[in-house]
Amino acid sequence: MSDLKQKIEQTVAILEQAVREFSPVTFANSLGAEDMVLTDLIAKHQPNIDMFSLDTGRLPQETYELMQKVRNNYNVPLVVYYPEATAVELYVAQHGVNGFYESVDARKACCHVRKVEPLRRALVGTRAWITGMRREQAVTRGSLETSAFDADNGIQKFNPLLEWTDAEVWEYIKTNDVPYNALHDQFYPSIGCAPCTRAITPGEDVRAGRWWWENPENKECGLHVSSRIPKRA
Ligand code: ADX
Ligand code: SF4
Repeated sequence: MSDLKQKIEQTVAILEQAVREFSPVTFANSLGAEDMVLTDLIAKHQPNIDMFSLDTGRLPQETYELMQKVRNNYNVPLVVYYPEATAVELYVAQHGVNGFYESVDARKACCHVRKVEPLRRALVGTRAWITGMRREQAVTRGSLETSAFDADNGIQKFNPLLEWTDAEVWEYIKTNDVPYNALHDQFYPSIGCAPCTRAITPGEDVRAGRWWWENPENKECGLHVSSRIPKRA
């Protein structure tokens, strides 16, 4: 069996386990390449898994185009969560509309208002959530597990693509004709908010374009807090 076929089978089994043991389950869909693989697998194999995106209000136009495409192409509804308007107003009053460039704290505060608080609402009433994180993506993700209790959110967390390589993600996308973000063809391997994402040059780390002005160990937005805990010896 090819490596990819084996990875697909393992991933489908993990999704099935999540539904069997932890329903209701929801999938956090950022619309990045990994999450489009999961969108396709969930739609085909486990359509009872809910799906949501966090629209920070600062996403690139290409991400909104893909969001619309997912709505049109897949039979699984994508629920979109927004930040609290008053919290955004307060942030902008305190830090400025682009205040996140000023310091790590100001950046984390923006991520908190625009992503972390909406995530908390998206997870209410669920017993598990699914992400598209892969181990090789970042130093902060080396010690992740496929399934583990997420103490920050008080529910189980699944990372079914944890052991997939970047090449496997793209082989799946091309073979299955999965729609993807047009920015991926413009040297954006990892896509977040428009002002905090840039293209990378060949040879750069895949997450070099995310919060590029910060150190690699700071580069998590708070959605995945425990992924910052270093591996035990
Ligand atoms: S981040 O922490 O740097 O923003 P990344 O973009 O790598 O994370 O995405 C990791 C996983 O977090 C995604 O596979 C997805 O499950 C979840 N995620 C990130 N951003 C969003 C978003 N805007 N909406 C929903 N889920 C998201
Ligand atoms: Fe704000 Fe940038 Fe975080 Fe988006 S990625 S929520 S714009 S700091």
